[in-house]
Amino acid sequence: MEESQHVAVLDFGSQYTQLIVRRVRELGYFAKLYVLEDFPNIGKPAAIILSGGPKSTSDPDAPDLNFELLTGFGVPVLGVCYGMQLLNRKFGGTVQASDRREYGPAALVIEDGGGLFSGISNSSQVWMSHSDTVKLLPDGCRVLASNQHGTAVALQWDARCFGIQFHPEVTHSHEGLAILRNFLAMAEDLQPFVIEDFKRDLIASIRQQVGDKQVVCGVSGGVDSTVLAVLLHEAGANVRAIFVDHGLMRKNEGEEVRHNFQRLGVPIETVDCAERFLTALDGVDDPEKKRVIIGNLFIDVFWDAVGDAELLAQGTLYPDVIESASNANSKASKIKTHHNRVDRILELQAQGKVLEPLAELFKDEVRALGISLGIDEDILNRHPFPGPGLAVRCPGVITQDRLDIIRECDAIFIGKLKEHGWYHRVWQAYAGLIPVKTVGVKGDERSYEWAISLRAVVSEDAMTADWVELPPLLLRETSHQILNQVKGINRVLYDISTKPPASIEWE
Ligand code: XMP
Repeated sequence: MEESQHVAVLDFGSQYTQLIVRRVRELGYFAKLYVLEDFPNIGKPAAIILSGGPKSTSDPDAPDLNFELLTGFGVPVLGVCYGMQLLNRKFGGTVQASDRREYGPAALVIEDGGGLFSGISNSSQVWMSHSDTVKLLPDGCRVLASNQHGTAVALQWDARCFGIQFHPEVTHSHEGLAILRNFLAMAEDLQPFVIEDFKRDLIASIRQQVGDKQVVCGVSGGVDSTVLAVLLHEAGANVRAIFVDHGLMRKNEGEEVRHNFQRLGVPIETVDCAERFLTALDGVDDPEKKRVIIGNLFIDVFWDAVGDAELLAQGTLYPDVIESASNANSKASKIKTHHNRVDRILELQAQGKVLEPLAELFKDEVRALGISLGIDEDILNRHPFPGPGLAVRCPGVITQDRLDIIRECDAIFIGKLKEHGWYHRVWQAYAGLIPVKTVGVKGDERSYEWAISLRAVVSEDAMTADWVELPPLLLRETSHQILNQVKGINRVLYDISTKPPASIEWE
C-alpha cells in the first residue's frame, strides 16, 4: 500500500477514534490511526481526519498540532468534534468553553446540501457528545449545517477543510457513513483497499524481513493464528508452527486442528501436555489462580518447544495495536488476567525478532485475507475460543471427568446450532458446567447430578454482549440429547445474562 493512498486519522483521545478508522475501512479505503506525536511521520496521506477528544481547546494542556504542516499536505481535512473546534481556532475563530455537556441525538438542518452533505436527508439524526461549541467563525467560513436550535454543527473554512460537531462514526448518526463517504470522495489520490494487493505487498515484505531465517509461531486453530501460519507458509518462510495442546480443548479439537492444517499443507508440531496442565491445576478453584497457572505454564511449554527462535511471529491485530498505543496511560480496571505474559516477547521485540504481519488488519480483514489464502470459511468463521480453554467454563476444581462432561454437552449444543442454521448467527456459544448437584429422576431412580449451562451471545467486540433468543425447539432438542446422553448431568439451564454485568465466560 502506497503511503499516499491512505487516510490518516489523528487521535485526540476520543473513545470513538478507533471507530473512525473502522468506518473508513468499511468504506473500502485504508485508514491508519496516529497518536499526535507521530503527526510529522504520517507520510503522504490522501485525506486527514482529526478525531474528537475529551479536552477543551482552551485547556492549557489541550492537544495541539502543527497547522502549517496540516494544511501543507494540500489534502482534504475533516475535523470531528474537538477536531472541528481546534480547526476553527486555527483558522482564526473562537470556541466557547462550557461545563454543560450535550450528549445524544440532534437533528441536522442542512444549509448547503452539496459536497459533504450530498444526498443526506434534512433532519437526519446525528450524535452529539461535547461541551464546548464554536463561537466566532473566521472570515470566509461557511456554515454547512446547524442543529435544530440554529447552532452551527458543520463548517467549511476553505476548499479542503471541513469540520463537524457530531460523530459520524457512531451508528446513532444515521447517515454518518454516507457523510464520511462524501468527505472521502474529495480525496483525489485515495485508492480502494484491495485485499489481494495487500496480500501481495505483505508477502513481499515478509520475504524481505525473514530471508532464510527460521520463523516460529504458535497455532491454536483460531482464525488469527491459522491465517498467520498459512501466510508465512505462502511467503515461502521456513516456518515452525507449534500447537500446544493443554488438554483444555473441546471435543476432538486437537484432531480437527491437525486435520485442518494438513489440508492446508502447513505442517504443525503438537506439544501434548494435557497431563502437565491437569497436574498443575489439581485442586485449584480460584479463577485468577487458574488463569495465572495456565498462562505461565503455556508460555513455558511454548518456549521450551521454540528453543532459540531466530524470529517469532504473532497474530497481533490492529485493534490491539491501537489499544496499546492510545491507552498507554489508561487506568482501566483489571477484570481478568488475560492469557499472555509478555516479558519474553518484549525482549525479543527489542531485538527486532518479532514479526506481526497482521498488525494493520481488523478481524474481518484477516478473514478476507484468509479467504484469499484459500482457507475454508468454516475455519475462518469459527466462534472465538479463549486461550485458557475449558478451564474458564469449569468453575471450581478442574478434573478430567468435569472436562469430559463439558466436552460432550458442548459438542451436542454446537451440533444443534449448526443443524438448525444458528451457528453463524451467534457470535459465541458454549456449554459450561455448574458444579452443583441437584436432585432428579432418571429411569425411575433418583439422580443427584450436576447442571450444565448453555450460553449463546451476540457481540461486536466482546466488550458487551447480549444473550440470543434461540428457538425453543433448538433448546428443547439440545436439552433432550444432553439429558439422555451425558452421564453426570440431570439439569440443563440457558444463560440469559447480558454483559455487563455478567462476562461472556463463566470465569
Ligand atoms: P469475557 O468472559 O471476558 O470474554 O466476557 C470476552 C471474550 O474473550 C474471550 N476470553 C479470552 N480469550 N484468553 C483469550 O484468548 C483469555 O484468557 C480469555 N478470557 C476470555 C472469551 O471467550 C470471549 O470471547
